[in-house]
Amino acid sequence: MPLVHKAVIAGNWKMHMTCAEAQAFAQAFLPLVAHLPTDREVVLAPPFTAIAILSEALAGSGVAISAQNVHWEEKGAYTGMISAPMLLEHGVTHAIVGHSEPRKYYSETDEQINLRARSAQAHDLIPIVCVGESLDQREASETERVIHRQVEQGLEGLDPCRLIVAYEPIWAIGTGKTCAASEANRICGLIRGWVGHPEVIVQYGGSVSPATIDDLMVQSDIDGVLVGGASLDPLSFGRIANYQAPVQA
Ligand code: 13P
Repeated sequence: MPLVHKAVIAGNWKMHMTCAEAQAFAQAFLPLVAHLPTDREVVLAPPFTAIAILSEALAGSGVAISAQNVHWEEKGAYTGMISAPMLLEHGVTHAIVGHSEPRKYYSETDEQINLRARSAQAHDLIPIVCVGESLDQREASETERVIHRQVEQGLEGLDPCRLIVAYEPIWAIGTGKTCAASEANRICGLIRGWVGHPEVIVQYGGSVSPATIDDLMVQSDIDGVLVGGASLDPLSFGRIANYQAPVQA
């Protein structure tokens, strides 16, 4: 299917980068993405504390800023949380929700993830909703069932035209084991079918690197990537953002 929207190349910095480090990254990174082809957009998700400074450093560059999570309430007694209006104040346009790390370490449920994604859309933030199976689930042939449930419950009631779904197999995150491009494409295609809207943006994430990006982006159902470790280095993330587009027939 020809891509009708831009590919989305996103970097998730997780708990990395002080404000000073984020500023140094921006200085080195901006020249590398100054002449990107118009068929793609780049998003960076710094920790909350570096959002303001990175947003300023990237102003006018076209590189968008994402939060790494967002609460479903606008304000209230939720110690440690950040709401959508607080993010909007700093020019944030996207919010990652349902990443496997908060699912694992803070027991986030599909229901909470859905509330977060709905709140994001209600405030004009684009949620990047992560789904994916563990190694045990894959080995037990439960991959499709697990992801189908995450899609059904996590994406309920969302507008598919203002949504990114990231397929991140947990066994490929931070392990150096990229899912084979053809298998990542198969799962991304299933997700697109379950969402039921051809234009939903579906990303792949899990050990994406300069060495694997071109093979991933050539796949018909992969509309972008969510990059962890390789997004911390301006040169490697710059190479990923400048992936080689397939020649159109
Ligand atoms: P890595 O690219 O380090 O495997 O991380 C992937 C990820 O979790 C992005 O959200």
